[in-house]
Amino acid sequence: MAKIAGLDDIVSLCKRRGFIFQSSEIYGGLASCYDYGPLGVELKNNIKKAWWKAVVQMRDDMVGLDCSILMHPLIWKASGHTDKFADLVTECKKCNTRTRVDHLTEHAEQHTKHISIDEAAAKKQDLSDKVCPNCGKVGQFTEPMPFKLMFETQMGANVDDSMTLYLRPETAQGIFANFRNVLDTTRVKIPFGIAQIGKSFRNEVTTKAFIFRTREFEQAEIEFFCKPGTDEEWYEHWKDARFNWYTDLGLKKDNLRFRAHDPDELAHYAKACLDIEYRFPFGSGDWQELEGIANRTDYDLRQHQRGMRTLNNWFEKKGDLSKIDLKDEAQDYESGPLSYFDDQAKKRYIPYVIEPSAGIDRSALAFLVDAYDEEQVRGEKRNLLRFHPALAPVKVGVFPLVKKDGMPEIARNIYNHLKKYFTCFYDHAGAIGRRYRRQDEAGTPFCLTIDGQTNQDNTVTVRDRDSMEQVRVSTDKLLNHLREKLEV
Ligand code: GAP
Repeated sequence: MAKIAGLDDIVSLCKRRGFIFQSSEIYGGLASCYDYGPLGVELKNNIKKAWWKAVVQMRDDMVGLDCSILMHPLIWKASGHTDKFADLVTECKKCNTRTRVDHLTEHAEQHTKHISIDEAAAKKQDLSDKVCPNCGKVGQFTEPMPFKLMFETQMGANVDDSMTLYLRPETAQGIFANFRNVLDTTRVKIPFGIAQIGKSFRNEVTTKAFIFRTREFEQAEIEFFCKPGTDEEWYEHWKDARFNWYTDLGLKKDNLRFRAHDPDELAHYAKACLDIEYRFPFGSGDWQELEGIANRTDYDLRQHQRGMRTLNNWFEKKGDLSKIDLKDEAQDYESGPLSYFDDQAKKRYIPYVIEPSAGIDRSALAFLVDAYDEEQVRGEKRNLLRFHPALAPVKVGVFPLVKKDGMPEIARNIYNHLKKYFTCFYDHAGAIGRRYRRQDEAGTPFCLTIDGQTNQDNTVTVRDRDSMEQVRVSTDKLLNHLREKLEV
């Protein structure tokens, strides 16, 4: 039976083996920001590669994009983030700790719903029997207040021409803003999607559980554009495709489930939304959001069309751009610049959008938790990460059994050859058993040992991380043998 990892096991392994470090640790650390170490960056890159391969490379209906983090502030006005992207928070009068109201009032901390500032003001909450999660005092809370989640920054060197910008809180809006560019420069036809991986930033009130909820994180998002009326079908398609992506990469089915959002939980842009949840080893409910899949309808493209029209009119009148009010100017949306011409039906429409939105850091945490194992081998504890080969930071360890009899030279040659094809690690230090254990803990699927027999028959041992079984493979067949096993 595989050991179920606790969060402490994961944090300790990540630090010990150089997967993940606290940001700015030498200065005492910066809360809820993390750095990926040598093994962590390989894991994260492999997750991104696997996602890109599945959703872009292997599909005929998807193209990629890489947008800037800083964008025109009207993007966020049009998308609704400037006015609506907030959490309702309260402060404990005794210890001054701020907490999200939904985290006090709902059964679990899994809800990530952000609410509009107007909604926040309208929502009357009775917190008289609620307990402060920090100091334990009951009912000592201030009046709930909306807390804006976007980080602001200034662009421009001079005071009079500087502009307030935001660090993007999702990568999605860069895709909507480039919808016309992609239509005009490629031969995509609806249905098609645009995929993007990149950093997002949110000034989260409650950060916790290591890399689960941080203020700087990486998202992998798809905006899939389809004809209105076909949206429910595509929603089902993406639901299955994304669930299978996780299980194909080794996450245990029992640790994954869907959770449909209740109508009152839906984001302001969504007609339907569900989370793919993973059974993380923390929180009162265990099940926590890994990825969200939303039917965003034509909300965003319509909003940007409104934004573009308002801006054009503003140029004529001038005024303070930050005070611009998105007007529902009389316009024919269906013939606007963000509409799509269906050349079979000979008509224009604003496409609907299905959005599968994954978190790379959250996926990394789920893959680490799921792969973690401990077992007893001949009276000793063996720690290992049973990563899928596609995700393993190092694919092959190469070891000379001893540092003599020509073994290091042969091992080096094999290592230099194999590293052209996949990430390898050469190690000649310490007893062979210890070298195996070090690679087990890093999740390396195969280790090769060059021993006395290699000189006689040109074979090496190939040890399997999970079963610890060893087979002899001749050096001229090694590359193909490993490629087949690693599926790379
Ligand atoms: N464009 C839609 C969107 O951003 P979301 O549910 O807010 O939707 C999508 O975020 C995914 O991004 C989440 O399922 C999660 O994996 C990741 N994510 C969101 N906020 C995060 C945070 N503060 N830290 C780490 N990952 C986060």
